[in-house]
Amino acid sequence: MYKRVICLVVFVIGLAIFIGDFTASAGKDKAKTTDKSKDEKFKPKYDDTTYVPTSDEVIEKMFEMAKVNQKDVIFDLGCGDNRILYMAAKKFGCRGVGVEINPDRIREGMDQYEKYNGGKDFGKLLSLVELRHGDAFKVKDIGDATVVVMYMFPRFMNLWFPIAKEKLKPGTRIVSHDYSWEKDVVPDAWEPVAEATVKSSMRENHKVIMWVVPEKKAKKN
Ligand SMILES: C[S@@+](CC[C@H](N)C(=O)[O-])C[C@H]1O[C@@H](n2cnc3c(N)ncnc32)[C@H](O)[C@@H]1O
Repeated sequence: MYKRVICLVVFVIGLAIFIGDFTASAGKDKAKTTDKSKDEKFKPKYDDTTYVPTSDEVIEKMFEMAKVNQKDVIFDLGCGDNRILYMAAKKFGCRGVGVEINPDRIREGMDQYEKYNGGKDFGKLLSLVELRHGDAFKVKDIGDATVVVMYMFPRFMNLWFPIAKEKLKPGTRIVSHDYSWEKDVVPDAWEPVAEATVKSSMRENHKVIMWVVPEKKAKKN
């Protein structure tokens, strides 16, 4: 009888340990799942880091079409080495914010900073051009832009259109090198107001496309 009681107690303790362990590991799995979903949440919608810098001839055309001037605030979404904004600051004295996801490009952006701020203009461009390491879909102050420039594949542009529609002020100019949104994916996308073809030392047929954000439609009751 005494032996049986001991066996029963050992069995109950063993069972308790097993159940406890199982619950704990299930908890761990749950924690892992939560972490994974957190990662998904912070993963950019688009992070194709293909880098092809826009050539100077095309940049000049983009400035000309958008009639960039000193009052402008230019955002370059996927800015690479941020050269476009240094060129704009130097030429027009306007502010610029470049957003780039790839840290290698950010390092190159800092080299551009040295290049443009090291000469007689030292300190002048410093306050005008900002380089941010981050996701172009999460630019809280994009509504401050008067001009947005980009050289991004259509998939980026399709995904970004709802942000442009919601956040950009009417009258903001969007100027894109080569690519456009795809009408079959984004049927309500705006029509371009101007298009040009530019020749550079690299190739003959760069496209520059510009849209102007229209007035917001009044909501129907
Ligand atoms: C074709 S390059 C254009 C660089 C520059 N705007 C120019 O025209 O010279 C596109 C850049 O977008 C960056 N990029 C891609 N996805 C991004 C995202 N979600 N947020 C910020 N930058 C991104 C890439 O790393 C790459 O440097």
